[in-house]
Amino acid sequence: MTAVLEISGLQKTYRSRKGARKALDGFDMVVEAGQVHGFLGPNGSGKTTTLRTLLGLIKPNGGRMTILGREVPQHLPEVAGLVGAIVESPQFFGNFTARETLSLLADAGGVDQRRVDAVLEVVGLRERAAERVKTYSLGMKQRLAVASALLKEPKFLILDEPANGLDPGGIREMRTLMRTLSDSGMTVLLSSHILAEIQLICDSVTIIAAGRRVAAGSVAEVLAEHRSTKVKVRLEPGVDMFGAAQALRAAGAEVTLEQDHFIVGNASRPAQITRLLAGHQIFVSELTPVTVDLESVFLQLTGTAPVEGANRQVDDVAATAGNGWGQ
Ligand SMILES: Nc1ncnc2c1ncn2[C@@H]1O[C@H](COP(=O)(O)OP(=O)(O)OP(=O)(O)O)[C@@H](O)[C@H]1O
Ligand SMILES: [Mg+2]
Repeated sequence: MTAVLEISGLQKTYRSRKGARKALDGFDMVVEAGQVHGFLGPNGSGKTTTLRTLLGLIKPNGGRMTILGREVPQHLPEVAGLVGAIVESPQFFGNFTARETLSLLADAGGVDQRRVDAVLEVVGLRERAAERVKTYSLGMKQRLAVASALLKEPKFLILDEPANGLDPGGIREMRTLMRTLSDSGMTVLLSSHILAEIQLICDSVTIIAAGRRVAAGSVAEVLAEHRSTKVKVRLEPGVDMFGAAQALRAAGAEVTLEQDHFIVGNASRPAQITRLLAGHQIFVSELTPVTVDLESVFLQLTGTAPVEGANRQVDDVAATAGNGWGQ
């Protein structure tokens, strides 16, 4: 696979009269061709700063970036025609229709007018293209924004929070649109807070916290690296749960008692649980791994924001997660 985007060691410090604020602290990211790549991070972690730096809107203080193999910002003019982006939510004239808006943008960008109908079709606005933008719903405005970024037939589309403010139906439409674009061969980078959506839409993700990358890879890889070692255990009704918990704890298990079941926190080998309990004549009626989703990984990684010199890398987390018991 070839990388459409490579960022390494990106640094950005905003300076104002009030002092300096480090927004990016050696940030790295790779987006492979043909992927829908999710860019995740809590508020203020540096997503918009990264995207603005990439597009030459602000100057970095260090690091390297390439888009489609060309070093940017130096060679941005050569690749600018291949990159479509919506970074700050674009403002359109409310009195113009979608078609007029796109037609104007096409003229300004030297794009063939035939593209206007093509992009209206792609984003699903063709039927409503003759209506004024001010009568549009938020979801339709977002789609118009995507349409404007698609005019020049980009190979690489960058969207900052495209699902922001959309209801579940609007989000689903956006998801379908992203898939359509990706299937047509485009590489898409999108930042988002809506993790369940990212998990559904994206092939791969980068998670940023406090200006540094804390996880990256395919969604499946990131989830696998943070595979939960928690197991839910249920016993037959009437069986002594406390006795079972005690026996497990004595063997080194971390047990949390719930109403009608208990959770073993460090069960990297669930068979140990059944074996040990059976040894005490206690039989398990249910043993279920507690599943991990992107949201829980995100919280795990970003809940404790990295501090200077003590950055939690994926490997550290994976190394500590492997501690078993009773082995
Ligand atoms: N123009 C600016 N001047 C000073 N500080 C800024 C400026 N823009 C952003 N910052 C700071 O840089 C940090 C990163 O901001 P950024 O907008 O990149 O975060 P973000 O990940 O996009 O957040 P959000 O999810 O809220 O959009 C924040 O601490 C923010 O306050
Ligand atoms: Mg932002």
